[in-house]
Amino acid sequence: MRKQIAAANWKMNLTYGAAEALLNDILKEQVALAPDQKVIFAVPFPYLIMAKSGVEEEQGYSIAAQNCYSKSSGAYTGEVSAEMLQSIGIKYCVIGHSERREYFGESAEMLAEKVDLCLQHEIEPVFCCGEALNIREEGAQNNYVQTQLEASLFHLTEDQMLKVIIAYEPIWAIGTGKTASSVQAQEMHAHIRSVFAAKYGDEVANNISILYGGSVKGSNAAELFSKPDVDGGLVGGASLVATDFVEIIKALKR
Ligand code: 13P
Repeated sequence: MRKQIAAANWKMNLTYGAAEALLNDILKEQVALAPDQKVIFAVPFPYLIMAKSGVEEEQGYSIAAQNCYSKSSGAYTGEVSAEMLQSIGIKYCVIGHSERREYFGESAEMLAEKVDLCLQHEIEPVFCCGEALNIREEGAQNNYVQTQLEASLFHLTEDQMLKVIIAYEPIWAIGTGKTASSVQAQEMHAHIRSVFAAKYGDEVANNISILYGGSVKGSNAAELFSKPDVDGGLVGGASLVATDFVEIIKALKR
């Protein structure tokens, strides 16, 4: 059965003390997760070890990196490898966030390399896709997202594909307060699942978690997550507010 996931993406926010306090405020609520539910905190690199020591993996709470580099090791000053993440016990990594594609010029090929390195090091990629506003206005969003998935994921085997989590994050909804409607989210998630079904078969497609991201809040999470193909959310702004993120965790489908 596919997992229902509430994932926090803290992005480049919070000092060490504030990060520790936020994590503690969320964890002290002790929201019990069903076996098919997960909570993942994607935190800045310097906080990975602190955050990892705070969560109980057996209870379904895990830590993710927000990125890793597309080479295994070597003279790449300032970069962090998937192997390094594995060596500190990190099991998830966000790959291909639209902010990385836009501000750091990450290409589809580079993202395919990152996905491969994560999988080689037993890290499950949270692979992001999603269209900009002009593409949605042209009505070309389905083809656009399909191309993103094909370009960076279709080289994977079935077994590998089952270790990838998808996050659909329409760029026009990120940090704008303009959430996709639950109908728009469901339409795209169903399309994404059909793209995987055509390539890998229904069984694989039905076992891939597809998260929605873009202005998810405590107040709209339950409606979004109620849709059959929306398996949780990747949350930016609202994940920085403990009460909001706790509400989002509680909104996961059971
Ligand atoms: P917001 O929730 O702030 O819109 O950000 C979404 C996002 O980019 C999560 O990765």
